[in-house]
Amino acid sequence: MASKSTSVLIAPSILAADFGKLAEQISAVEKAGADLIHLDIMDGHFVPNISFGPAIVRTVHSLTPLTLDTHLMIENPDLYLEDFQKAGTTHVTVHMEVCRHLQGTVSMIRQLGMKPGVCLNPATPLSTLEDILPEIELVLVMSVNPGFGGQKFLPHSIEKIRELRKIISSRGLRTKIEVDGGIDVHNARLLVDAGADILVSGTAIFRSNNIAKAISDLRSAGTDRSSSSPQQ
Ligand code: DX5
Ligand code: ZN
Repeated sequence: MASKSTSVLIAPSILAADFGKLAEQISAVEKAGADLIHLDIMDGHFVPNISFGPAIVRTVHSLTPLTLDTHLMIENPDLYLEDFQKAGTTHVTVHMEVCRHLQGTVSMIRQLGMKPGVCLNPATPLSTLEDILPEIELVLVMSVNPGFGGQKFLPHSIEKIRELRKIISSRGLRTKIEVDGGIDVHNARLLVDAGADILVSGTAIFRSNNIAKAISDLRSAGTDRSSSSPQQ
């Protein structure tokens, strides 16, 4: 059983936002109680899509006091960490699959004053985290293959999160678990029950008719847990 007392954090991904109305949409998620803003950085190499870079991150930072959670889906992240830090990022996650010297990258993130996290693609096993786990604040479990918003949730990530939660607890760590991709009111509760602390959501929030309702529905779906009910 997942043992957590705090409620789930919601991190809207602006990848699905209308960039023509970015200020309005950021303000809407902020008013609706979003906890973080998730920024998907894609380079066209690690993932087959290009999104945006530090200039947009800086713009978002100027629009909101919310914590910026920057998800780097890029090769050679070390080259750009300082740019993202200067743009206002405080939480940064890098992909296990691209970091040849992960410990060095994590320590560079800390030296820049940011909180480091590591992302795992759906096919990357939890065993790869063994050595780095005590050095990071966050593990981001991908529940789709990275590169695009609006993809279908991969249900095996629920079991992966449950397993990761057990590993973190058994090692006495406080590492947070974030999950990203295809999250909506139908899977939020299963993910939180399995041990997720942060739900990233783009499509379900920004492509809904009502951003405030979408966030509050997601939060209630993820928070309304009965401790006596068995896990799925
Ligand atoms: C996928 C990104 C996700 C994505 C989430 O590569 O990392 O953050 O934008 O969006 P939805 O909720 O549409 O899957
Ligand atoms: Zn993401």
